[in-house]
Amino acid sequence: MRYSQRNPLPIPAAGEFQRVSSTIDAVFDWQYELKRQKLMELYEKGKAATWNATDLDWSIDVDIEKMVSQRQMAGGGGVVNQFLAPPRPLDEREALTLNLNMNAFMLSQFLHGEQGALLATAKIVETVPWAEAKFYAANQVADEARHVEVYHRYLTEKLGVSYEVHPSLATMLDDILRDSRWDVTYLGMQILIEGLALAAFGMQKLMMAEEPLIVDITTRIMADESRHVAFGVISLEEVYQGMSAAELREREDFVIEATHLMRERLLMQPVFERLGWPLEVWMPWALETPFMRGFRQMLFSKIVPNLKRLGLLTPRVREAYAKLDLLRFEHLKDSVEDPEVQPPAELVQLLLQVLASRQAETPGAPG
Ligand SMILES: [Fe+2]
Ligand SMILES: [Fe+2]
Repeated sequence: MRYSQRNPLPIPAAGEFQRVSSTIDAVFDWQYELKRQKLMELYEKGKAATWNATDLDWSIDVDIEKMVSQRQMAGGGGVVNQFLAPPRPLDEREALTLNLNMNAFMLSQFLHGEQGALLATAKIVETVPWAEAKFYAANQVADEARHVEVYHRYLTEKLGVSYEVHPSLATMLDDILRDSRWDVTYLGMQILIEGLALAAFGMQKLMMAEEPLIVDITTRIMADESRHVAFGVISLEEVYQGMSAAELREREDFVIEATHLMRERLLMQPVFERLGWPLEVWMPWALETPFMRGFRQMLFSKIVPNLKRLGLLTPRVREAYAKLDLLRFEHLKDSVEDPEVQPPAELVQLLLQVLASRQAETPGAPG
């Protein structure tokens, strides 16, 4: 696919290329048992569902600025102030700039996360012991290359604004790629990063509903990602059932640490830095304002039931998640029971709840 890179991605401080050293055991499976039926079915589904980046209508003119202005003319400006409850009221222009940059920031992190997934799943092909999981992971590698391709084209050719990888995401990707335990790569990528992405894509689709190209991209990628997350749950389930308490404890540590890294990224510090808005004002706002808090929590709606299914919602993880008010998702369906993401109706409901709770909120209530 040829396209013009009108808006090249900014290069992070680490430079154009970044090396991560890892010591892994590449494993051959000489049995070729292919007895894990769920994985074989998923592999068949993955092959049948492959699409091409050229299937998308790249002739669509993307003008987010116009779209957001139209919303504002329809009374959206007031809604931005009402929803986001910024530290000071934003005028139309500022609300637009914030909106554009938050969107570009999220999409850019999706792009970098996709590249991480490309590398991580290539590693899984080598390290997972079973042939059927190698088959599926190989199929996923091709999916991830396509995801990088379409997000990159969207950001560089269509959107006009983009961000380098957030340091917290870079750290997490490093950890995932460096780790010599094969299941930790799975846990970090398939359960945590992709689980979060799946929920974030749902949100993206809802917030950008009037932009048909990103809606099409997101719909296709979500269908792929729901299989990827299911791949992680199906594979790890049998591994964690047989693990010792000491080994499980290491996985708990990983989950807790990774959860903090993911939440840090969602505070969107680079957006305020680029806009030149004072961090001491905007970071506490990002941490506390009900809409942003609700948004961050929502992104864990698929992760929590999946961790529960894997037996990783242990007392220590529960304690950490209770502090972040994430346990309310534990009774939702996991990715094996329901590979789809939550229906947008729930997101709408969240937005309404946030609005209602904001109206009822007393100033200075704890976060
Ligand atoms: Fe992906
Ligand atoms: Fe994926």
